[in-house]
Amino acid sequence: MIEVICGDITTLEVDAIVNAANNSLLGGGGVDGAIHRAAGPQLLAFNRTLGGCKTGEAKLSPGFRLPARHVISTVGPVWHGGGQGERELLESCYVSSLELALANDVRTIAFPAISTGVYGYPRDQAAAIAVRVMRAYEDRFERIVACCFSEADAALYREVLHEHS
Ligand code: AR6
Repeated sequence: MIEVICGDITTLEVDAIVNAANNSLLGGGGVDGAIHRAAGPQLLAFNRTLGGCKTGEAKLSPGFRLPARHVISTVGPVWHGGGQGERELLESCYVSSLELALANDVRTIAFPAISTGVYGYPRDQAAAIAVRVMRAYEDRFERIVACCFSEADAALYREVLHEHS
């Protein structure tokens, strides 16, 4: 089941929340900053042992002080106009995160809108990619949550979900 909500992903009681991280996995702004603040400094210490993460791939960490048991960090592409494999890389973020979740008995998972903040991916195109991959995996999860940070984003996701129903 896919759910669209509007809110702060760090508050969600799910098995795993996904972080829109950067290649270092050592924190940053946006949702990454919020997740590191809420999880506490142990997340940074743990992530130092992971050796970074390639764009389009995903890595697993404990949730530490978060209500979520795990953090799955993935690195979205920076938008350069669409001609540099951005679509495939963004799709790969969702697929890699969901595969890593399945391998770790995650039944409930929440995603932010990866790459649509600082990395500049057009929100409508990003939502279409996110929803398509979520649809392909929804039977294998109890809950897949699209956690939007604005009502406008939530409305966009609901529209795209409706088109893909
Ligand atoms: N809960 C849910 N969504 C959020 C939250 C939150 N607490 N905070 C922001 N968003 P961004 P990116 C939304 O910029 O584009 C970091 O510095 C936000 O409104 O966080 O993938 C990393 O370290 C937007 O819709 O991630 C990287 O350097 C979405 O999350 C870089 O930013 C993603 O915005 C990654 O950029």
